[in-house]
Amino acid sequence: MKELKEYDINEVTGFLPDECLPRLPATFNEWEDLLANARLLIEKDSFRSTIGKLPEFPYNNLIDQKHLRRAFVLISFLSQCYVWGNGKDDPGPASQLPAILANPWIRLSEELGLNPILCQASVVLWNWKKIDPHKSFNLDNIFTLNTCTGSMDESWFYLVTAAVEGVGGPILKDMIDLKKAMDDNDDGYVILKLKSLKDGLSKIIAILSRMKEKNDPNYFYFQVRPYLRGWDNSKRLPLGLLYGDEDKPRKYAGGSAAQSSLIQAYDCILNLSHCPQSRSNTDFLHQMRSYMPYKHRKFLEDIEKEPCLKTYVKKDRLLEKAYNEVLNELVNFRNKHIQMVASYITVPGSNCGNDVTGTGGTSAIPFLKQIRNETVDAIIPNK
Ligand code: HEM
Repeated sequence: MKELKEYDINEVTGFLPDECLPRLPATFNEWEDLLANARLLIEKDSFRSTIGKLPEFPYNNLIDQKHLRRAFVLISFLSQCYVWGNGKDDPGPASQLPAILANPWIRLSEELGLNPILCQASVVLWNWKKIDPHKSFNLDNIFTLNTCTGSMDESWFYLVTAAVEGVGGPILKDMIDLKKAMDDNDDGYVILKLKSLKDGLSKIIAILSRMKEKNDPNYFYFQVRPYLRGWDNSKRLPLGLLYGDEDKPRKYAGGSAAQSSLIQAYDCILNLSHCPQSRSNTDFLHQMRSYMPYKHRKFLEDIEKEPCLKTYVKKDRLLEKAYNEVLNELVNFRNKHIQMVASYITVPGSNCGNDVTGTGGTSAIPFLKQIRNETVDAIIPNK
């Protein structure tokens, strides 16, 4: 494995950068101002017509990674608002994205190794700022740069997810150290690192448990989720979305925390393999990798190429125990997450006979239970 920085991983905040650019320079003012006013314009039914008045996106004025990322966030929100921001008269989603949005979005996504759709990178990884720059990164010291609805509920959804990613630095370093300890046959150190990985998951669960503090399940279901939808297997956009002047619609999954590289890193390090009948679910999680920044995806691929931890721990009962404890905590994470999804999707959706699938396009609860069960099945039984 290479060093963390080679994978664009921060040693404190993990897959989050050390800071995000809150706004592009002045030559992008009309674009930034439009996003700042998007909510009001959608309410007045004039957002879509205002997009047509924008000047060309001054792409060549983007000079570095921070600019490219901010531009991707900006255009992702504008495009998502364009497609799903129906206004009061609800004419339905737009089936074609104007070239003025589509062209820079496609170019940016190619440059960043992502797909041109709102994803975890646009709403979580690159969409936060510290309240007090002198204090450490944590859930109570960050705010979101942009939302579609202007609500605290939507902000909090992104912030909790960012705070989960934000504990990732030491966890990902532990993963690299664990691989080195295996190379050195240093069993004591392997056990120590497995304990740290378990503690990392405990921190993640504690953060996840704070979701309801500022995100109301009904508001989330009816107001926020519609903006996160994609156009892959979408009932409302069954053919997908036409990007600018292209003649064939494109299909992409909507935004989902299944695009979290941190949780997938746990699956990779633990060699969590999925049973054959769950092939489509395994594929879904793999597909989600194409919605992650290129270097983060590469980190997951590189861990998978390393010698197998599960085989290594089978030589000793204490190693097995430490390995199983991480898996148990991952099961706890998945159980907590399933409960949360039930209250944010199943309950409000079933109450009105509505859609109870995930924004990523899965069956939600059955899918998540299967992933959870596969985690349980991976626990090494007592001999
Ligand atoms: C209101 C809050 C949340 C809801 C309603 C929710 C919903 C879902 C749904 C429906 C899926 C299935 C894939 C899809 O179709 O999108 C999913 C997957 C997933 N979500 Fe969440 N989620 C929430 C918060 C979070 C947070 C804060 C995290 C933390 C990183 C997270 C991590 C994951 C992961 C890792 C998966 C992939 C399945 C797995 O590995 O177990 N989710 N989520």
